[in-house]
Amino acid sequence: MRNGAGVRQSHAIYPGSFDPPTNGHLDVIARAATVFASVTVAVVVNPQKRSPFFSVDEREEMLRRCTGAYANVRVAHFRGLLADFVSRIEADVIVKGLRVVSDFESEMAFAHMNRSLSNVDTMFLMSDSSYSFVSSSLIKEVFLQGGEISKYVPDVVLEFMQQKRPAHGRK
Ligand code: PNS
Repeated sequence: MRNGAGVRQSHAIYPGSFDPPTNGHLDVIARAATVFASVTVAVVVNPQKRSPFFSVDEREEMLRRCTGAYANVRVAHFRGLLADFVSRIEADVIVKGLRVVSDFESEMAFAHMNRSLSNVDTMFLMSDSSYSFVSSSLIKEVFLQGGEISKYVPDVVLEFMQQKRPAHGRK
């Protein structure tokens, strides 16, 4: 991406399931927004995941509300290959967060595959250490067992989750 003066401006894509978005995701988005000229947060529409906790629309809505303060962040969704979507929106770089060393093993293969398919590199941001154990799946498990999750998700997400409780929860 180039600005009016022909100067290169990096457009990053931050893909994920975001089911639901966590404070760890938000931390990566906030930091990416300071490094790159624009950031597209891209929710994957994954037909293999039979019963996601939140619909794609809900995930996009939560992300929009959590990232409204960042003028250079937009939220989108995509189906199929990330590499194809990266090419379609002309992103320059894929951003991923790394929480623990073991994340790197799978992410390295994804990064090589995505670069091979789309010629776009992946850049990794280390998740803040305070979020190293926070994942969407763990948040859902703790929530559904009645545990306290307010420390780990933005307020908007907490509200959306509480609305789901009668359908999904035990309380
Ligand atoms: O938040 P997640 O579930 O870890 O995100 C995984 C995601 C969406 C980044 C990954 O599953 C993905 O890129 N899916 C799109 C399909 C695809 O391109 N698969 C090949 C990856 S090399």
